[in-house]
Amino acid sequence: MQVQILGNGAYAPKTILTNHDLEKKIDTSNEWIVARTGIRERHIAAKDEATSDLAVHAARKALEQAGVAPMDVDLVIVATSMPDMFFPSTACIVQEKLGAKNAAAFDLSAACSGFIYALSVGEQYVRSETYRHVLVIGAEVMSRLTNWQDRGTCVLFGDGAGAVLLGPANEGRGILSVHLHTDGALWDLICVPGGAGAIPPSEKVLVECLNTIHMKGSETFKIAVRNLENVALEALHANDMSISDIDWLVPHQANIRILKAVAARLKMPKEKMVVNLDRYGNTSAASIPLAFDEAVNDGRIKRGDSILFLAFGGGLTWGAAVVNY
Ligand code: COA
Repeated sequence: MQVQILGNGAYAPKTILTNHDLEKKIDTSNEWIVARTGIRERHIAAKDEATSDLAVHAARKALEQAGVAPMDVDLVIVATSMPDMFFPSTACIVQEKLGAKNAAAFDLSAACSGFIYALSVGEQYVRSETYRHVLVIGAEVMSRLTNWQDRGTCVLFGDGAGAVLLGPANEGRGILSVHLHTDGALWDLICVPGGAGAIPPSEKVLVECLNTIHMKGSETFKIAVRNLENVALEALHANDMSISDIDWLVPHQANIRILKAVAARLKMPKEKMVVNLDRYGNTSAASIPLAFDEAVNDGRIKRGDSILFLAFGGGLTWGAAVVNY
């Protein structure tokens, strides 16, 4: 049983925060941010918008495109680092808002690699014929995990959601492979250390901003480039493919310098890499399905194209998926 992406959708909140807006709040400049990251602006959720709201918008579009009704969804998986609440899972809230009454639902936590991890889990359920239709959603309100005084991180992240509906494939199509990796020894390179179980909410947590993203940027950068290259080669090798067999590289949108370095190492022409981080920043688990959806909608990615998804994030976690769309 092959497993296919039957439909895709994405959503970004209306409010846009530009680098020039950030210049007015912190000691930074548009030039610095563009040169070091490639990011020009990011979307920020409204006060009354939660991760589940973003997820539902993206999921509805994916279902519409696939022509599948919410009642015919069997499982909802939401990959997120910013759930609506500790419990119930954001996926339960999405199930309710979507009217997917027959679906089981759970969240998955793998930071910026969340989409590929969730894709891999969803694929297993369809492949094993346990479920027919699985909604895989990456959704984040990163703006609420951001320390807006920390110029080293607050310029990087944005809010958004992307979704795909998985189902049984037509012959020859579908998810060809998923490779996942973790190195828990490096958990403290990117983390939100406080406000949960290990360091519960307290005045100290708020004063020291332990409930926001802490990151060792340049170490993360170097490891990201190396690991993304390695997992891409692992995925190509497993499928007996070379980079010239890939029509589109859709990587996690963290930093344009990381993406260019990975593309150069893989000898992937830059025109074949989908990049939208200039307009969205790093939307963590949402970034791959957001970029994928954009390239499908503007006609770049077509049915039958071979796609290499590449992700990297906190954990550390990283992975690759090869998909014949
Ligand atoms: N505006 C202006 N200056 C800034 C700044 C900002 N927003 N952020 C940092 N700086 C300054 C630093 O304070 C430092 O100044 P100093 O030399 O006087 O101390 C200088 O710029 C260089 O900082 P550094 O952190 O070495 O820059 P960098 O080239 O490594 O770029 C990142 C910083 C965060 C853009 C880069 O490390 C990065 O993108 N890393 C990967 C992060 C990532 O992708 N994380 C998510 C993975 S899923």
